[in-house]
Amino acid sequence: MVENKTVAIIGGGVIGGGWAARFALNGWKVKVYDPSADSRRTLTATLENARRSLPRLTDASLPAEQAMAFCDSIEQAVVDVSWIQESVPERLEVKHSVYREIQAHAPKDAVLGSSTSGFKPTELQQGAISPEQILVTHPFNPVYLLPLVEVVAGQETTSIIVDRACHILSEMGMKPLKVRKEIDAHIADRFLEAVWREGLWMIKDGIATTEEIDDAIRYGFGLRWGQMGLFETYRVAGGEAGMAHFIAQFGPCLQWPWTKLMDVPELTDDLVRQIADQSDEQSGKHSIRELERIRDDNLVAMMRGLKENNWGAGELLNLHEAQLKKSSTS
Ligand SMILES: NC(=O)c1ccc[n+]([C@@H]2O[C@H](COP(=O)([O-])OP(=O)(O)OC[C@H]3O[C@@H](n4cnc5c(N)ncnc54)[C@H](O)[C@@H]3O)[C@@H](O)[C@H]2O)c1
Repeated sequence: MVENKTVAIIGGGVIGGGWAARFALNGWKVKVYDPSADSRRTLTATLENARRSLPRLTDASLPAEQAMAFCDSIEQAVVDVSWIQESVPERLEVKHSVYREIQAHAPKDAVLGSSTSGFKPTELQQGAISPEQILVTHPFNPVYLLPLVEVVAGQETTSIIVDRACHILSEMGMKPLKVRKEIDAHIADRFLEAVWREGLWMIKDGIATTEEIDDAIRYGFGLRWGQMGLFETYRVAGGEAGMAHFIAQFGPCLQWPWTKLMDVPELTDDLVRQIADQSDEQSGKHSIRELERIRDDNLVAMMRGLKENNWGAGELLNLHEAQLKKSSTS
């Protein structure tokens, strides 16, 4: 149990807004600091989307939603909190200067999690006043619905902070995945980047459009990945002979020139325009907010389906639901 359920959200853009909604809808008081004049509007819109989708994931009641306060300074946001989530732009010098300000005023025992997609936690800790409270807690968009958080400790992070972070994330229905060793871009984004590179090549070489690439994912392997991931899927694909047979059959393909993973096509103005035009043609009929609601409805439906089967993200939902029901009766 965490006594002081108050969180500071530093940077309230796409990801900070998602974190703010995840915490607020799980009964945490939220204090936000973001210097942008527009952040209050976008954050309110994210919170509205979260309110219509997150409660539909579970049949148990979530804790009462807590207030969200907008602060005028980092100092005001971080005093007397037990978690600080940094989601400022992905620039190391910006993150370092934000940590200096946070750590001049924040409680020393608070978790200081960074949403960084790429930096290693030891890089984030360089020059910090209290490096031991800093770790990576890397979420996935929309943070209020997707459970995965990659938790990466740096050289100085204490195990107390890591354990506390994992405990709090689990209490909010999330899946903390402890990354064993620091590596640029952690685990999941390395895959996403590999797939993205391949997609960019296929557009550049005229093999497929943005829509055809998306169809190749969403009608096939994307569905498989969402419920079993990569290795369990391949185990099944090996038939009764299993994984070793699968590797014997398809392993040699890795030597063939199928992929261009170590190269990246030059993102010329022409290529960027081509991709943006194809994307407008594919999805321009919907606003971004509409697309977010379509995405959220689909994610809720898929996760509820997995919940029926008590599998993967659905098994996690059942565990969280049992925990919510227990805490509402105790
Ligand atoms: N977008 C994604 O899909 C995604 C997914 C996971 C993690 N991340 C990571 O999350 C972080 C934020 O990314 P984003 O996509 O939300 O970016 P974003 O541009 O949407 O939001 C960044 C916000 O930080 C604010 N900001 C700038 N300087 C600040 C400061 N000094 N103090 C407080 N706020 C400040 C900006 O006004 C902006 O609202 C990055 O580290 C990124 O790698 C992004």
